[in-house]
Amino acid sequence: MKGVVLAGGLGTRLSPLTRVTNKHLLPVYNKPMIFYPIQTLVDAGISEIMIVTGGNNAGEFLRLIGNGEEFGLRHMNYTYQKREGGIADALALTKHFVGNDKVVVILGDNFIQGSIKKAVEDFETQPKGAKIFLKEVPNPKEFGVAVLNGKQVSRIIEKPKDPPTNLAVIGIYMYDSDVFDICDTLVPSDRGELEITDVNNEYIRRGVMTYEVIQGWWADCGSFEALLRSNLLVARENGIEV
Ligand code: DAU
Repeated sequence: MKGVVLAGGLGTRLSPLTRVTNKHLLPVYNKPMIFYPIQTLVDAGISEIMIVTGGNNAGEFLRLIGNGEEFGLRHMNYTYQKREGGIADALALTKHFVGNDKVVVILGDNFIQGSIKKAVEDFETQPKGAKIFLKEVPNPKEFGVAVLNGKQVSRIIEKPKDPPTNLAVIGIYMYDSDVFDICDTLVPSDRGELEITDVNNEYIRRGVMTYEVIQGWWADCGSFEALLRSNLLVARENGIEV
């Protein structure tokens, strides 16, 4: 199983914090943001990892992370996203790295409390398809939202105005290598991006999508409020009273 951390995009919602640096290099408690998703992959037993980044600060990732020794890795792989074409556009750049393997994709601004090790092991034995993680949230309008039909996900709606459920699709996804053929068929959404939600809906259409609802906390850093919340959750996790 390969691992991919997506750390491209402009992070415009966090300007001016992101005017001279990449969002994923900003601090979350006592580490740069991107350390957490890398650690989540490493804790799940994944040692072959590629970081996708872009913009003017891509070189800083190499200086910061190097070959990943800090995470017990021997090598880190990097690739460069030239434009902010969306999450699925960034993922498509890792095709040569993933090859015929399966892949765990994690958004560079997403944090979870627990481990995904068991889910990764389960996905290893899933013959084909994809697996996503869901979390009940008070503000589903801000995320991809899943509609369930019994034990299946029947549909995902990206940032719905009128969310049918409060189940957010979190930014950790597992795919078989068909994901790259699916990425090739995508067309840009209204926001001009290749959407990961379109990838997931194609797996649902094929009847090969599984899901898990996560129990611990989950946070992303898409807005100032989310970034602040992530800092507080991670600090508290480290025993700091804030
Ligand atoms: O955080 C979970 C949410 O992430 C999901 O619920 C949504 O379904 C999913 O679309 C995504 O929503 P956002 O609109 O919050 O994604 P955002 O544009 O903030 O991008 C999230 C990460 O993806 C970002 O930290 C880096 C990576 N990314 C994003 C873009 C647009 C790239 O690597 N390249 C890109 O071009």
